[in-house]
Amino acid sequence: MRFEAFSRRAAEQRCDCLVIGAFERAELGPEALAVDRTMRGRVRALLARGDFSGRAGETLLISEPVGLKSARLLLVGLGGKAQYNRRAWRRAVSNAIAALARTRVVSAALALERPAARELDDYYFGRAIAEGTGAGLYRINDLKSARKPRPPALARVLCGPIEGAALGAVRRGLAAGAALAESARLLRNLCNLPANVCTPRYLAAQARELGRTYRRRLRVRIFDEAGIRRLKMGCFLAVTRGSEEPPRFIVLEYRGARRSHAPLVLVGKGVTFDTGGISLKDPPNMDEMKFDMCGAATVLAAIDYAARSELKINLVGLVPTCENMPDGRAVKPGDIVTSASGQTVEVLNTDAEGRLILCDALNYARRYEPEAVLDFATLTGACIIALGNHFSGVMGNDDALARELVEAGARTDDRAWQLPLTEEFGEQLRSNFADMANVAGREGGAITAAAFLGKFTQGLKWAHMDIAGTAWTSGVAKGASGRPLSLVGDFLTRRAGG
Ligand code: BES
Ligand code: MN
Ligand code: ZN
Repeated sequence: MRFEAFSRRAAEQRCDCLVIGAFERAELGPEALAVDRTMRGRVRALLARGDFSGRAGETLLISEPVGLKSARLLLVGLGGKAQYNRRAWRRAVSNAIAALARTRVVSAALALERPAARELDDYYFGRAIAEGTGAGLYRINDLKSARKPRPPALARVLCGPIEGAALGAVRRGLAAGAALAESARLLRNLCNLPANVCTPRYLAAQARELGRTYRRRLRVRIFDEAGIRRLKMGCFLAVTRGSEEPPRFIVLEYRGARRSHAPLVLVGKGVTFDTGGISLKDPPNMDEMKFDMCGAATVLAAIDYAARSELKINLVGLVPTCENMPDGRAVKPGDIVTSASGQTVEVLNTDAEGRLILCDALNYARRYEPEAVLDFATLTGACIIALGNHFSGVMGNDDALARELVEAGARTDDRAWQLPLTEEFGEQLRSNFADMANVAGREGGAITAAAFLGKFTQGLKWAHMDIAGTAWTSGVAKGASGRPLSLVGDFLTRRAGG
């Protein structure tokens, strides 16, 4: 896919399809008006006849538009003019791409009205176009046996018109968005695969593949069960006990800056299937627990993005990955295990397994003397109750770091919200038999989970993102969302200095 910015008037663009927007009540923005003038009023005539209402979601494809240099014109509804904002613009872009994907259009020029500059600057404008195009053209890597429909023909997207002074920023945004779109495809493919395909060994093979692709800057190491035992990761080993699938601990080291530069460590929960273990989950929707490795896939995709974009930053990715299964040998409620940090944990609920594999990986992060540690995990149903499917939860021991993540989410519309991680929550994890229990009560469940992790990150700058509500969609549109890669990509790009 190629992305370009154009500076001439939209009506002058030579391409397979020009895309303009129309508001409700036949209101047109300046770019659409200019196209209408070139077409001698035919756009307005069409609106006056009532054949196109301008409602959000509506599209109309017109062949051989008179006076234009493009073979087709696509009209996209923008909704009410007064309500037009960045979100409405994003939806219009995505509706345009969806409509184009149903045609044989190869090159399209987008000239939709832009929201106010204070809502969307030039860089994020370009980034959103490329990211939105990638997301709109994404097709699930399904295993349906019928012949696949023809893939969309779209291969070149132009956007504009962009004034000369803004061209640089728009192009940088397009490049970042194009790289993100590629990494998001990797992320979504990994998440959507069923657990009988996407096993811990499969994730390890994917990581090795990344190592081959970016050979010069990326080093990948994989620990098998014996290796994990040598690392004394007793909590991680407890989770994997009930499974026939062998676990893996994946370590990726990306070097984009000088060796003396302390790395950022990204940790991702890689439970390829979560039955709950002996504390077995209810059957409804249990299939969705194949998505319990979205945190792991976020880490792989983030490193793919950094390497693809050659970000000047040092990164370490840590992915503990296994299944959580019930079995005669599985860990049982009440069992006490020893983590790699030496702290003992009473496993009161085997379904609180994410924190058990993460705590040992977080402890492993110490050896890098990192600038900061971030973890990504589909950790708690409680986080979905708190923030719905709209916001990822952010918690940690450094407010500035948490704020940095929340702000990256706001800039990219991949939103996150900080929950208060204060001492009281950690006190709820008291155990009579071990240093701590792995669960507290139902109250504040997203935060007590973070408090558990916090007992393993003392002395580190650390933030935790609970993506249980945001990483995938349920219902008819079931599938991975690609979140929170957009947020993470922005965070990393800024940390790398642009
Ligand atoms: N992977 C789940 C969290 C989850 C549940 C994500 C539903 C998305 C949808 C996690 O391992 C889990 O089971 N958490 C428990 C924790 C509880 C036992 C303290 C939960 O949220 O119920
Ligand atoms: Mn669980
Ligand atoms: Zn889980």
